[in-house]
Amino acid sequence: MLLEQSRWAQVEKYLETSTGIIIPVGSMEQHGPNGLIATDAICPEVIARATAAKTGFLVGPTIALGAAQFNLAFPGTISMRPATLMAVVQDYVNSLAASGFTHFYFLNGHGGNVAPVKAAFQELYADRSYHPEQERPSIRCRLRSWWDLEETNAIRQKEYGAAEGMHATPSEVAITQYALPETIYKANIEAPERLDASFFKDHASDDHADARTHREDFPDGRIGSDPSLATPEVGEALVKAAVGDLTKDFESFLRE
Ligand code: NI
Repeated sequence: MLLEQSRWAQVEKYLETSTGIIIPVGSMEQHGPNGLIATDAICPEVIARATAAKTGFLVGPTIALGAAQFNLAFPGTISMRPATLMAVVQDYVNSLAASGFTHFYFLNGHGGNVAPVKAAFQELYADRSYHPEQERPSIRCRLRSWWDLEETNAIRQKEYGAAEGMHATPSEVAITQYALPETIYKANIEAPERLDASFFKDHASDDHADARTHREDFPDGRIGSDPSLATPEVGEALVKAAVGDLTKDFESFLRE
């Protein structure tokens, strides 16, 4: 069930059986030589909507822009400041909490969203903690990046291993190729730069510096990945695994 294609009375009816919702959150940024600018929004949206079609879970409108200042030296990137994304997440959650929703599961497609979205959760909890006299209903929020889902991650490792790299990964490109086969583009892509383990540790969740530095360091937009390995077949396998993973993870979240 998709919130944006529902009528209010259907949402009221849904709330009689569940007060949980899945919210895809992405980014609008360059994705290397063959990846689409909306890659990070498409991946969680496709997984969430396929899960909704199978289970009847409610999926909210995708937050298609994310926090991606480090990619602003590549044309077409649109970034929200971390504080803007936090405000969007808080208003989104508080709007639906006003209707009676209690469990907000953000399916994430972009590493740079992790810190601001989790900080937004703490602001939402703080609103309630500092003002117990307002007696606002308690809520729970979870952020899960699709590539961290268990079976999905196992396929990533098996298919691509070190070629996944950190950005413009073959897995995410594969999912967009499955979802939008008419956009498949064969680019000339050189072998990826090998990044050591300390790079991954130091820059986890897109902890990158300013945009000019970033483009100088990674001139074609990739970070240690080989997206030429992407195929729609692997994309389909990733989406199928992610639907199973998300179903289990969302069900366990609803029991919290
Ligand atoms: Ni991405």
